[in-house]
Amino acid sequence: MKWLYLMPVVLTLMVKSADAQQSAHQVCMLVPQATQDCLKRFERQNQLSARISCLQDLLWNIVPDMKLDQKDRNFMANISRIIGVTEASAQPFTSRSGGSSTQQEYRSKSNLYPPSGKRIRKEYRLLTFQERARFHRALKRLYMDGIIDIFAKIHAEASDMHHGGASFLPWHRVYITMFEEILRLYDSSVSLPYWASTLDDVMDNPVNSILWTPEYFGNGDGIVYSGPAAGWSTMQGGLERDYGRFSTLLKRDQIQKVLTQCRLANISRPSASREFDLEGYHGGPHVWVGGDMSAFATTGYDPVFYMHHCYIDYIWEQFRRRQRYNCGVDPNFDYPEVPIGDSNHPDAKMTGFEWFTNKEGIESYWTDNWFTYEAEPECPNCCPGCSYPPPLNCDRKRNLCVSRSKLFDDQGRLIMSSAMGMRSRAEDLTSGRGVRPRNRGRSFDAPPNDGRTVNTALQDAMNAAPVIQQQQFQTVL
Ligand SMILES: *[C@@H]1O[C@H](CO)[C@@H](O)[C@H](O)[C@H]1NC(C)=O
Ligand SMILES: *[C@@H]1O[C@H](CO)[C@@H](O)[C@H](O)[C@H]1NC(C)=O
Repeated sequence: MKWLYLMPVVLTLMVKSADAQQSAHQVCMLVPQATQDCLKRFERQNQLSARISCLQDLLWNIVPDMKLDQKDRNFMANISRIIGVTEASAQPFTSRSGGSSTQQEYRSKSNLYPPSGKRIRKEYRLLTFQERARFHRALKRLYMDGIIDIFAKIHAEASDMHHGGASFLPWHRVYITMFEEILRLYDSSVSLPYWASTLDDVMDNPVNSILWTPEYFGNGDGIVYSGPAAGWSTMQGGLERDYGRFSTLLKRDQIQKVLTQCRLANISRPSASREFDLEGYHGGPHVWVGGDMSAFATTGYDPVFYMHHCYIDYIWEQFRRRQRYNCGVDPNFDYPEVPIGDSNHPDAKMTGFEWFTNKEGIESYWTDNWFTYEAEPECPNCCPGCSYPPPLNCDRKRNLCVSRSKLFDDQGRLIMSSAMGMRSRAEDLTSGRGVRPRNRGRSFDAPPNDGRTVNTALQDAMNAAPVIQQQQFQTVL
């Protein structure tokens, strides 16, 4: 962050020193090696424009410094005190070879109750208007107080520690639950909703989902200017999305496949085969939303990330229920074998939440004491209690709940402004305008896109529209 604030200063200094032929090296001390090398290449030519270009490269390619500082750590230590565990009570796994001390600790943790009480998590679209407003308000307050920033940093720090291994699901369970607990410190009526992106995937084109409007997630194209995260910033500038270009949302058959398996090892990396790899599928919505959601270091800045992971956790909870009742496997004792010293080892501490070990993330007390899930909506009542027009409708032909399209009003008529927006967006993309690339570091790997993109969104809607609407479309396209 500090780095970016410095940039205009550095830029001025560079231009000045180039003018005056002063010691450019003194200034170069401030910039990274790659930029120094770039500047050196142009040293003899002393071309101002070349120097500026080196600095522009630096600006657009800077990888954010996402290290947690002492203030962040103090804040998290406060949270651990609030929920009644302290880091001191969690021992490093190296000193926990004896079974009895482990048993002791589990006994104390199983009495761990959230200070804000147990809550029910439901699909985001099933929140009442008031619930959604309060959720959004709490999110904004977390952002204002710098807590979104801390959680984004924790996720960045956990990129290598809790992805690609057995701790992926348990670590993210603790991560979103701590996030939710903090939301509830601000408003105890709020619980974290989940985003069942399958409900959008079954649309003709998920880009057209009602979710990408100011009342829900806000816009999905470029800098986020509407919805709960309007005007938010990352370390690199305004929060960005770039939806519907790469990869896909979660597909029903992917989840059904995952739910045929019986062991955590079967659905976790690196042991999972491709078709049961829940972490691999989970990369889909990250990359589909795009922009900051697509990279490990920045995804925690987008509120959509927490709702996406809440759905991954909901899928895992269904898996655990099946383990118990269909497979005869106790999910509390199903942590795969991982070599000592690996960050995925059952007794390794969780990054950012060092008062928990990975193994504690698979304990049942989370769903016994902390939260429970309201089932995903099903036909024919896709949106019980929703006001008209409901954001979810039952497609009776397929017997599936489907998200409402933002391109049509409640009479089924095309909303011209939305359609025009889709068209100009598609034009931006084909003409190469659009989101300016930033170097966000490593992105999630994900399945390929399925041909339904932001460019085809309007055409896809037209193909699906009743004949009566075709005339309207002709004038738009
Ligand atoms: C932690 O809590 C103490 C008091 O309980 C408070 O003074 C301090 O500001 C808090 N620190 C952070 C970083 O929130
Ligand atoms: C699931 O995991 C178990 C135990 O790790 C293993 O024996 C079994 O072969 C796995 N099944 C599949 C389909 O990968």
